[in-house]
Amino acid sequence: MIKWGIVGAGNIAHSFSKDLALVSGGELVSVASRSLEKAKDFANEYGAPNAYGSYEELFNSNTVDVIYLATPHTSHADLSITAMKAGNAVLCEKPMGVNKREVEQMVAVAKENNVFLMEALWSRFNPTIKKAKELVDNGAIGTVVYVHSDFAFYALDRDEEGRLLNPDLAGGSLLDIGIYPIFLAYLMLGKPKDIKATANFYKTGVEIQCSMIFNYENAQAILYSGLNSNSEKKAEISGSEGTIFIHPRWHETTGYTLEKDGESTANEIGKMGKGYVHEIEEVHDCLNSGKKESDLWSHQNSLDLIEIMDSVRKKTGIVFPFE
Ligand SMILES: NC(=O)c1ccc[n+]([C@@H]2O[C@H](COP(=O)([O-])OP(=O)(O)OC[C@H]3O[C@@H](n4cnc5c(N)ncnc54)[C@H](OP(=O)(O)O)[C@@H]3O)[C@@H](O)[C@H]2O)c1
Repeated sequence: MIKWGIVGAGNIAHSFSKDLALVSGGELVSVASRSLEKAKDFANEYGAPNAYGSYEELFNSNTVDVIYLATPHTSHADLSITAMKAGNAVLCEKPMGVNKREVEQMVAVAKENNVFLMEALWSRFNPTIKKAKELVDNGAIGTVVYVHSDFAFYALDRDEEGRLLNPDLAGGSLLDIGIYPIFLAYLMLGKPKDIKATANFYKTGVEIQCSMIFNYENAQAILYSGLNSNSEKKAEISGSEGTIFIHPRWHETTGYTLEKDGESTANEIGKMGKGYVHEIEEVHDCLNSGKKESDLWSHQNSLDLIEIMDSVRKKTGIVFPFE
């Protein structure tokens, strides 16, 4: 049984804990929050025996096999590094760091301490997305020449101090949700040769819409993220011999439609829980077989992804006050 500890008792930590309860090979045993009261409430809600009023106490508690880090982007690097130096395996929420320098440091510390580290890029483990990748790799749609993907939701009514609209917490759409369309283009086509991108900004200084065109030798990807409207959240992967449409919301999808030879076939694959079950199972498989990184979402994959996001930021002038 893999014993989990959660750091940061916020929104995603709740969703994750509900899914963890569905996985037979793991259990939540420890919760850490900046407030002991909050940690106790959270631990009680999910039946975890240990609650801590500081993150460091959990890092040094020797109660867990792996820590799930569910705090704002800006703390991912520092907290992961502290956790790993104390000998803990870490599943770190996306984006792994706010820039490539941070991710490089995290990967180096994982290697130095010989501990497992993975970015919680949960869509990579979604059964439909795995299937789509398999179809593409097996040539089912010929050569991929076009990827179209978006992810936008309305968030301008949120707290301006909260992590989406606050530049001090690396707010904006790109790192929070633009990461998903970029991930899909990267998964299907790799690193682009050239990137064109343009962004609009909010009064707090964060970027709230970002359009991107990735150019490859013989392919293009058109990608979008935004916080000032809802988008359909559909994804299209189009090749010389067919097209895969990943059903909305594509990043947590349950199925896809394959168009090929004049026929359109809808396939419902399903998922477990909200979908975090699949990334949790990947972590269990890695830990049970002694792996220090996932083959499906490796350290190099996280490094490539943040490098692409750094390029988009450079082109669009997305800068954070703390950098
Ligand atoms: N994979 C996904 O589907 C998904 C979905 C949503 C978010 N995320 C990622 O998960 C991370 C957290 O997102 P969230 O929506 O859960 O955020 P959230 O609701 O704001 O929770 C973040 C938690 O981090 C802790 N924290 C530590 N320092 C903080 C600070 N300076 N300001 C605010 N909170 C701080 C707090 O926990 P304590 O008070 O308990 O210490 C807080 O509850 C983000 O990096 C995001 O990208 C992933």
